[in-house]
Amino acid sequence: MMLAQNLPWVPLLVPDMPSPETLLPWLERMHAARHYSNFGPLVQELEYSFAQKFGLEPEQVTTVANATQGLELALQALELPPGSRVLVPALTFVATATAVVRAGHVPVLADVDAATWLLTPEIARSACTRMCINAVLPVATFGMPHGMQAWQQFEQVTGLPVIIDAAAAYGSQWLQGAEGTLVFSLHATKSLPAGEGGLVVSTRPGLAAKVRQLSNFGINLDPATTLPVGTLASLGTNAKMSEYHAAIGLASLQKWELHAQQRQALQADLMQELQQASRYPLAWQAKGPGGPLQAPTLLCMRLPDESVRATVEHACQQARVMTRRWYQPLLPHMAVLQQRCLVLDTPDAQLLGQTLLGLPFFLGMTQPQRQRVLSVITSQ
Ligand SMILES: Cc1ncc(COP(=O)(O)O)c(C=O)c1O
Repeated sequence: MMLAQNLPWVPLLVPDMPSPETLLPWLERMHAARHYSNFGPLVQELEYSFAQKFGLEPEQVTTVANATQGLELALQALELPPGSRVLVPALTFVATATAVVRAGHVPVLADVDAATWLLTPEIARSACTRMCINAVLPVATFGMPHGMQAWQQFEQVTGLPVIIDAAAAYGSQWLQGAEGTLVFSLHATKSLPAGEGGLVVSTRPGLAAKVRQLSNFGINLDPATTLPVGTLASLGTNAKMSEYHAAIGLASLQKWELHAQQRQALQADLMQELQQASRYPLAWQAKGPGGPLQAPTLLCMRLPDESVRATVEHACQQARVMTRRWYQPLLPHMAVLQQRCLVLDTPDAQLLGQTLLGLPFFLGMTQPQRQRVLSVITSQ
């Protein structure tokens, strides 16, 4: 029998990027047009496809270089007073909070729902009774979609703007007929990969157009305004998506539906097999108010307690099965953020922080790889 130390690791993630042959026609189009960035034909085509999918006008959608910049610029476009308090969940990727700080505001770290792992409108309402909050940045945790009608109602009742960090939720998070603002990531590890990339979708009047302008240094390109074209309208940055990245995004879009179905099927199978194999009760993220995950990109289980998690982690390490404590340490425990954030009570996020463990999940996982993950869980 082969010793574990001679086996290759079962990776945690394998990006699902289009092959060079698939990309070639798009790259040839780009090269023929001699247009490599600055909102070229491929970026326009990609944005047009997104506008159609969301049922919006093209000016309500803009691509950006990545979701982090998309979040920062969407916050900047809201024109909140400097130092505004923006509610974010304690359980999220660091970029949710760093985008708030870099936009000149203060993240207020809030709890998440124990079952869906989402910062809900109820949690946001309760935070607003405890301190002054100026905006809310809920996260579609691990891609789980929010109920947009409820967030639209929250915006209407409180007057506070809401931007959903839907970085991991392309294909799962939709507007569901409501008003709202969504920011997606098109990173190589996401369900619609462009290598690097982001997408801002917003029904808020002028928001996507403002983000687009801010992503192009803040230069006015609109002849309809009083400001001359080419003049600086606001302090922007360079966060444009290049034509190279749009080429990858367009190629990925052609396979998206098939791959999303395959992701769903793989996740359902793995969850069932793990559930049967494990002698510990496993818990999974509950379906959110916005419906189920349409295109999962990772597999994260919840173990009964911290010591079981440590045992399972150790066994995976021995069997050369990669694991990851997703979104940990939690934001309140990050030294750099502690000085810049306000922290509310986060009991459910703390419990999740002690018990969540990510396992390998990627399209093309082989039977031996799946078997190795299952046998390490069975042996525990
Ligand atoms: C919740 C969340 N927000 C933001 C980001 C950052 O996305 P990007 O890499 O496109 O900047 C990620 C990346 O995984 C994320 O998970």
